[in-house]
Parts: sequence; C-alpha cells; structure tokens
Amino acid sequence: FYPKLLSGKKVLITAGPTFEALDPVRGITNSSSGKQGYSIASACSRYGAEVLLVSGPVHQQTPAGAVRFNVTSAEEMKNCVIQLLEEEKPDVFISVAAVADYRPAHFSDKKIKKENSSDSYSLELTKNPDILSLVGHLESKPLCIGFAAETNDVIDNGRLKLQRKGADLIVANPANAINSDSNDAVFITKDSLKTVGPGSKEALADTLVLEINRLLKDRNCE
Ligand code: C5P
Repeated sequence: FYPKLLSGKKVLITAGPTFEALDPVRGITNSSSGKQGYSIASACSRYGAEVLLVSGPVHQQTPAGAVRFNVTSAEEMKNCVIQLLEEEKPDVFISVAAVADYRPAHFSDKKIKKENSSDSYSLELTKNPDILSLVGHLESKPLCIGFAAETNDVIDNGRLKLQRKGADLIVANPANAINSDSNDAVFITKDSLKTVGPGSKEALADTLVLEINRLLKDRNCE
C-alpha cells in the first residue's frame, strides 16, 4: 500500500542518456541505463502523481501510469521539456537524464570515410543547452530537482550545481552508480544535507518522493 502523497501533482522527469549524431551511423553519448530515472517515474506514479517521462534511448519498460515521450538528442529533449512545461504546467521537474554536454558541430548526411593518410581525427563540438539550468532560472518554475554524478568532491560539486542551476534539491552520487542497480547518495538543499543509502535505486526513488512531498509543503508555506 502506497499513501497517495503526490495525488493531484504533476511530475515531469527526464531520464536516460542523449545521443548526438555525427553521421547516419555514429554519434556520441553518455553512459546511462535510465534505471534511476525510470525507478523515480514509477515511484511518483505509485504515490499518486501524474507522470510525464521524457526519455533518451534506453532499454527500459515504461512504468505503469507514466506517459512517455521518446527523444534522442539534448536539443530534442530541451524542446520536449519546454513544450510540456508550457502545456502541462508540472508542479515538479526531476532532471535525471545524463544529457551530453556537447554535440558534433556538423552533422554529415553521408557516412564519414576513414582517412588513410592520417592517424588522428578531430571532432569539433558545440555546447548543448543545460536543460535543468534553463528550467531552474525560469521566473515561474516548478520545484526543480537535479542529479550530479561525481567522481570526486561529491558534496562540494553537488552544492555548486544546486546554486548554478537554480535547483531546489540536488541528489549527488558517486559516478560508479551509473549502470549499477544500487545507489548511495546525498540529498543537498540550500539548508540541509542528508545521506541516503547505500541501497537500491528503487529505495532511493521512494525516499525522493518523501523529500519532494516535504519540499512542496515548505514551498506552499512560504
Ligand atoms: O552533467 P551535470 O553533472 O552538470 O548534470 C547535473 C544535472 O544537470 C543533472 O540533473 C542533469 O540531468 C542536468 N543537465 C541538463 N542538461 C545538460 C547537462 C546536465 O539538464 N546539458
């Protein structure tokens, strides 16, 4: 039995990696199974929220009750998120996606051929939009939650991201949680720090729902 803590709330979630095409058969991407984002979508739905899930390419089943929007690149993910913000006015935005920070500056319609004369190949990259930061700096914004996978200085880097991206909560975790079934995280807000786990990604998702419920209540009291 799950108490309907998020009943009447709309939650927009991004999950999985983005894939940035270079030519019809190649591209660059981030390592991400989508498991944590999908676990969160599933938990939000079980706790009564209406869930909109914007997903990069993953092998995951759409959680019961969630409406899924498939995207490939960061640009597509951004456009889909902006459209859903305008049309659906979600109460909460949870950015779990491992968005590629850069994309190839040029897309080639034809497969790029190997140059036999050179042993190296340079790729020009263009910066992708930071979707969380974009949403976090809107004048009228949902409660914004981001993730930060870090190899070092997990808490310091998480705090910096909280500030820079205009997020209300950052879930900071060691980078080795990527593609794993478990997670070990710190929930960082402007005035609190809470260790969550080690435990399953499903357990982290349940704890996150409780934290969202608390933050939404705090927000309404302001
Ligand atoms: O990659 P980084 O550690 O900066 O990601 C932190 C948070 O920002 C994550 O929640 C991620 O989904 C989000 N992000 C984003 N768009 C980007 C890069 C990151 O929304 N281009």
